[in-house]
Amino acid sequence: MTIFDKFQQLAAARKELEQGCDNFFNIVMEEIISGTEAVVNGRPTILAGSNNYLGLSFDSGCIEAACEAARKEGTGTTGSRMANGTFSGHVALEQELAEFFSRQGAIVFSTGYVANLAMLSTLVGPGEIILLDADCHASIYDGCRLGGAEVHRFRHNDPQDLEKRLRRLEKRNTNILVVVEGLYSMMGDRSPLADIVAVKEKFDAYLLVDEAHSLGVLGANGRGLAEETGVEDGVDFVVGTFSKSLGAIGGFCVSNHPELNLVRYASRPYVFTASSSPSVIASTRTALRILKTGSELRQRLWDNANMLYKKLQDLGFLVGPEPSPIVAIRLADKADAFALWSGLLENGVYVNLVLPPATPDGNCLLRISVSAGHTPEQMEHICEAFTSAKELTALPQAV
Ligand SMILES: Cc1ncc(COP(=O)(O)O)c(C=O)c1O
Repeated sequence: MTIFDKFQQLAAARKELEQGCDNFFNIVMEEIISGTEAVVNGRPTILAGSNNYLGLSFDSGCIEAACEAARKEGTGTTGSRMANGTFSGHVALEQELAEFFSRQGAIVFSTGYVANLAMLSTLVGPGEIILLDADCHASIYDGCRLGGAEVHRFRHNDPQDLEKRLRRLEKRNTNILVVVEGLYSMMGDRSPLADIVAVKEKFDAYLLVDEAHSLGVLGANGRGLAEETGVEDGVDFVVGTFSKSLGAIGGFCVSNHPELNLVRYASRPYVFTASSSPSVIASTRTALRILKTGSELRQRLWDNANMLYKKLQDLGFLVGPEPSPIVAIRLADKADAFALWSGLLENGVYVNLVLPPATPDGNCLLRISVSAGHTPEQMEHICEAFTSAKELTALPQAV
């Protein structure tokens, strides 16, 4: 027996993928042309799975800010803020995030994954309870595990199931944190946030909303689903990432609870990792300024999202429950998913192939994310690629 024996199942799954989809593990973006295009397998390819919702990864102001910060402050902070001290840009970004969300405080983390790990593992611990939507992201599950709280799941987007479970847990007389996402990352559906807030208030629970995919995408000012739904006051903690609409890398949490600041001292994922490099902080600050006044970008994003959703529906694909910049297509099985994914790539379009266990309900999915940066010609090309590649699949029927 070796320590690698347990990887056998993984190796078999990888082999199956390689056989069905010969280049799946060898995709290299040989040249990045723009936020929406790269050279893959020697061919210009439209990127339709990048989460670059506002297309800001190639914004000239963001790039200039990053370059200037690197020149002035170096390429990295080379350590944690607790050990090495804080660069002024980190403090400025925290103030700007707090102001943008009209909250008392903000903490910046090194990634969105770390933000969830840090917040969930620190806010709730042994003897306390987390109730999370079953479709929550892996970083939320991992944060729960790290903190040692008791974890319960409620049915995806089902406030009645949440209420039933809260009623059962009420007699335990302990702190309960409810966790949902704004836009769900796989199917692109919104959380029924007004109902979730009403239920959590009934039981005096706390609520954390991960707006990773809704920041910059939803709400008149881009603050996410809580803004769009008009329930920001009912949300205790908003977590988000810089790696999607802000085009960089990093994460954050904002809150009106003054104790948020204490999380810094209690949170291992904050204390024991290096803080973001100055270039990342600088580009994120510039991107946040653009996002704030980005209603035109948001409109373009939604025009593209609505157009693609309708086109895929018209072609007979089984798409997610509502139009969204994330469009998921459910396929009958892995063979179909491989065929469509490869067919799209051959037609110059890259999307995400997502297979169980990483998908809700064990479905095989192709996940597309559109961007405000996709030009009308690129959107047309994506639609044509789906039209051609459709022949490669047997389309499942809605149940
Ligand atoms: C809902 C959600 N939360 C957190 C994260 C982690 O963010 P990051 O990739 O910036 O670490 C993701 C990443 O896709 C996500 O979808």
